[in-house]
Amino acid sequence: MSKVTVIGAGNVGATVANVLAHKDIVNEVVLVDIVGDLAKGKALDTWQQAPIDHYSTQLTGTSDYTETANSDIVVITAGIPRKPGMSRDDLISTNANIVTSVVKSILEHSKNPIIIVVSNPLDVMTYAALKASGLDKTRVFGMAGILDTARYRAFLATELNVSPKDIQALLMGGHGDTMVPLPRYTTVAGIPVTELIDADKLDAIVERTKVGGGELVKLMGTSAWYAPGAAAAQMVESIVKNENRVFPVCAKLTGEYGLHDVFVGVPVKLGKNGIESIIEVKLNAAEKELLNQSAAAVKSVMDVFDNM
Ligand code: NAI
Ligand code: 2OP
Repeated sequence: MSKVTVIGAGNVGATVANVLAHKDIVNEVVLVDIVGDLAKGKALDTWQQAPIDHYSTQLTGTSDYTETANSDIVVITAGIPRKPGMSRDDLISTNANIVTSVVKSILEHSKNPIIIVVSNPLDVMTYAALKASGLDKTRVFGMAGILDTARYRAFLATELNVSPKDIQALLMGGHGDTMVPLPRYTTVAGIPVTELIDADKLDAIVERTKVGGGELVKLMGTSAWYAPGAAAAQMVESIVKNENRVFPVCAKLTGEYGLHDVFVGVPVKLGKNGIESIIEVKLNAAEKELLNQSAAAVKSVMDVFDNM
């Protein structure tokens, strides 16, 4: 059984802790926030849910990093979220400082944790976390692809009036409007989705997916948390149970897909060591071009971070 620390007890962090507790797969979740009482309160509230929903996961909330000692996995959600009119990239300077200082504090008390970054702009915050940590690139990666793919799958489920459970899909690239949903790798219970839906409707769903985060920001005045929290918890589960599930994850590429030193979403196997391997699927020329464009967009924000 493992110890998981979740940094940031806001909308996403509290949801990660709550979903993880319900999965009952780790024995301890520590919720950390600069607002210590917020973390304490949300941890206590989730602990008081345990007798109702039947789990044993211990939860504590704190602003003191000594309580995070010997964490196996750390999920970083600390930072400011998007407000209407902001892009994820608008968050860069504030969140880069937060992520860098959080990583340093974590490593004072945990030697070789696996770090899952959620803070935005996701791809560049993953870069910032890996840079600050000095850990192996297989142990520091970001959550976005599971969420973006889930949005794509949910839109398809609504359109086709089928269960979202039966939709399998792959989406690659950065966590921004250049992300690359891949209809060629999308099926409904094994049936290629292109056989079930008109091309123009599928195009519209792909376009809606790309701005799926923004759609929720417009509706709620801040960014989403239920699906993002569940997505990060699913990554933790695959690691803790050594499931080797295949998910799109933001990883540092060192030659895969012909890309070097850039952080983008690619399918990986997630197991007890973090990224066990990156899977290189065959892309056609058009798909490769879209992935290259997305990687270039991420690289330009990485450069902004480097020059800060
Ligand atoms: P929120 O504002 O509800 O929570 C953020 C929390 O971080 C606050 O409680 C704040 O006090 C805390 N915090 C700030 N600085 C801190 C520090 N130095 N140490 C510890 N805690 C600190 O925001 P929300 O909605 O939870 O979003 C969190 C981040 O996740 C945002 O950057 C957001 O853009 C990002 N996000 C990323 C997604 C993804 O797919 N990767 C999806 C949804 C959100
Ligand atoms: C989302 O996609 C804003 O990254 C956040 O919901």
